[in-house]
Amino acid sequence: MRGGAVDLSVDFAGIKMKNPVVLASGTCGFGRELAERFDVEKLGGLASKGLTLKARDGNSGVRIWETPSGIMNSIGLENPGVKGFIEKELDWFGSLNTARIVNLGGHCLDDYLEGVSLLNDLDFDILELNISCPNVKQGGMNFGVKTEVAREVVRRVRGVCRHRLSVKLSPNAEDIVELARACEEEGADGLSLTNTFLAMAVDIYRRRPVFENTYAGLSGPAIKPISLRMVHQVARGVSIPVMGIGGISTWQDAVEFIMAGATAVQIGTATFIKPDVALDVIEGTAAFMKEERIESLEEIRGSI
Ligand SMILES: Cc1cc2nc3c(=O)[nH]c(=O)nc-3n(C[C@H](O)[C@H](O)[C@H](O)COP(=O)(O)O)c2cc1C
Repeated sequence: MRGGAVDLSVDFAGIKMKNPVVLASGTCGFGRELAERFDVEKLGGLASKGLTLKARDGNSGVRIWETPSGIMNSIGLENPGVKGFIEKELDWFGSLNTARIVNLGGHCLDDYLEGVSLLNDLDFDILELNISCPNVKQGGMNFGVKTEVAREVVRRVRGVCRHRLSVKLSPNAEDIVELARACEEEGADGLSLTNTFLAMAVDIYRRRPVFENTYAGLSGPAIKPISLRMVHQVARGVSIPVMGIGGISTWQDAVEFIMAGATAVQIGTATFIKPDVALDVIEGTAAFMKEERIESLEEIRGSI
């Protein structure tokens, strides 16, 4: 390995990870297809496709739209549902020798709670609670926008969840630092941020929005500087660990997030361009540590 014997391991809320590089939810399925391309057990962790209580077919119409520096998606949480995951994916996913992160979404509080109870006895490392979903009982506003709504979800989920709980924040939060603190106060063990940014594209010949739901989630390099700023602000405002996410496609990006305060990082969109980009990020970070004589990532974490 180019980087030699540096120690890339990190501790995320008591979960020991061999390195800080994780694949982001919704961009790697359950890791099966990527495992045909590279050794996914070299990763620090893998976050599953976002599950919902019931299986979902996802949205109709355009689902992915390219922009000059990222993509917009409106997948609509297509997934096998919690029971489908348990029946079809758990044997594979649960046996992986990397931090196994199960991402759970919901469209009402009861769905989250029932989903958590079904997952409670299973063997995985972290439950990542995606609160960027529309709350269908409250006019469709995403659970991650208002601090008090997010607080209630985290409090209730914490009450039943037996796994380490990392809450995945929406960058569309009204006040992301205040909301992050509320998650910590309600018992979250960690935070993952950010999810995609609400965005829009217009088909000028049809004179209509490209997406059936008008708005879609922007990810990729375009969001990196904004996500980085949010990770910096949140990491300084809480004492639980943060997984930094948003447009990471090189090891330099990953090191920036760690210096801004992230304990680990997640890579999403960049995997679509180069499926094994995460391995480049791991190797590049190790080489940088060796060159800079950094023995542990603790030395640079949150240094700015
Ligand atoms: C196609 C696609 C599907 C996604 N699905 C989910 C999901 O199911 N649950 C979730 O929490 N985040 C989901 N995300 C958000 C990513 O996990 C990540 O937070 C976001 O894309 C920002 O990282 P990136 O710029 O590296 O892609 C999805 C993103 C994309 C591009």
